[in-house]
Amino acid sequence: MSKKCIWFLYFLLMFAAFDGCGKVSSGTEHAPLYEEVEDASEYIVVGFLQVGSESDWRMGSTNSFKNTFTEENGYYLLFEDAQQKQENQLKSIRNFILQEVDYIILDPIVETGWDAVLTEARDAGIPVILADRSIDVEDKELYTCWVGSDFEKEGQRAGEWLVDYLQKQGRSDEEIRIVTLQGTLGSTAQIGRTAGFAAVLEEQENWEMLEYMSGDFTQAKGQEVMEYFLDTYEEIDVVVSENDNMTFGAVDAIREAGKTCGPEGEIIILSFDASRAALRAMLRGEINVDFECNPILAPKIEEIIQKLENNETVEKVQYAEEQYFDTSMDLEKIIKTRTY
Ligand code: AHR
Repeated sequence: MSKKCIWFLYFLLMFAAFDGCGKVSSGTEHAPLYEEVEDASEYIVVGFLQVGSESDWRMGSTNSFKNTFTEENGYYLLFEDAQQKQENQLKSIRNFILQEVDYIILDPIVETGWDAVLTEARDAGIPVILADRSIDVEDKELYTCWVGSDFEKEGQRAGEWLVDYLQKQGRSDEEIRIVTLQGTLGSTAQIGRTAGFAAVLEEQENWEMLEYMSGDFTQAKGQEVMEYFLDTYEEIDVVVSENDNMTFGAVDAIREAGKTCGPEGEIIILSFDASRAALRAMLRGEINVDFECNPILAPKIEEIIQKLENNETVEKVQYAEEQYFDTSMDLEKIIKTRTY
C-alpha cells in the first residue's frame, strides 16, 4: 500500500470517527468503509465539488459524475455537495488536498475568491479541472482547464430569438417590457446569460428592462421574485428566467395572479437549461422557448483525465454543444431522447 494510500485511509477514518456517522466532511455523501477503500491505490482518486441540488439540471450533472467516475471505470469518487455555499467548497478543497486526491474537479458556485485555495492545491501538485461554471483568477495556471457552456452565447441566442419571434408576431414596433429572473449572482451562468441577453437588448429601442432580480436558481425563490414583479409592474410582456426551476416558480406565480403565459398567453417566457420537465411544460403551453445548457460533462472530463494520465496536453477551454427548443419543434419526440 502506497504512502498516499495510507494517508488517504487515515483521513477517511479520521473524518468518519469525527462525526460518528461515516461522513467525509460537510457534504451529504457517506464515506466508504475502511475495507471498501483498502485497495484505493488501484484507483484514480477524484474529488468532485458539486454546487448543490438546487435544480433539475444539477441532478443531471450529479448523475453524470456518479455514473462516469465509477470503480468499474477505474476511479474512486469523493463527492461533496456544497449546498450552494462557497465556504463549503473552500473547506472541501482543503480536505481533498489533505487526502491527497489525484484530481480535483470543481464546479464553482461563484467566480471570485479562489486564488488562495487553488494556490494550495497547486503547491500540493493536484490538478484542478473546472466543470460547468468558471472562475476569475489572476493566474490562469491555477486550473488545468474548464469544460462547460458558453453562457454568454446562450443569453445572446435568447435575445436574438425574441427579436425574431416578435417580428413574426408583428410586434416589432411595440413597447416590450421585460423582467429578468437571474441565477445565483456572481456565478458564470448568471453573468454570461445576463450579459448575452443585454447585448441584444441594448440594440432594441422599444425594449425596456423593468428589473433584474436573483431567484438563486431555485423554484421557491423564482416564484417569490415573480410575485414581486407582478405586484410591482402592471404590464409585463416578457420574462427571461435564467433557469428552468425558477421558470416553474414563475409560471405558478403568474397563474396565481390570474394571468397567462406561453405561446397562447399574455406573457412570453424564455427559459434556460431545457430539462425534460421544462420541455413537458412547453408542451402544456407554459413556456415559449428553452435554451439548452448541457449537464452531461463528466464523460468529457474523464477523457481529459485520461489524457493527463498519459502526459498529453489538453485544451484550456472546452464548450459543450447546445441548441434551443421551441413549440415549432416535435417536442414529444425530443423529450424521449433527453437524459435529464
Ligand atoms: O451552472 C449551471 C446552472 O446552474 C443551470 O442553469 C442551473 O439550472 C443550475 O442550477
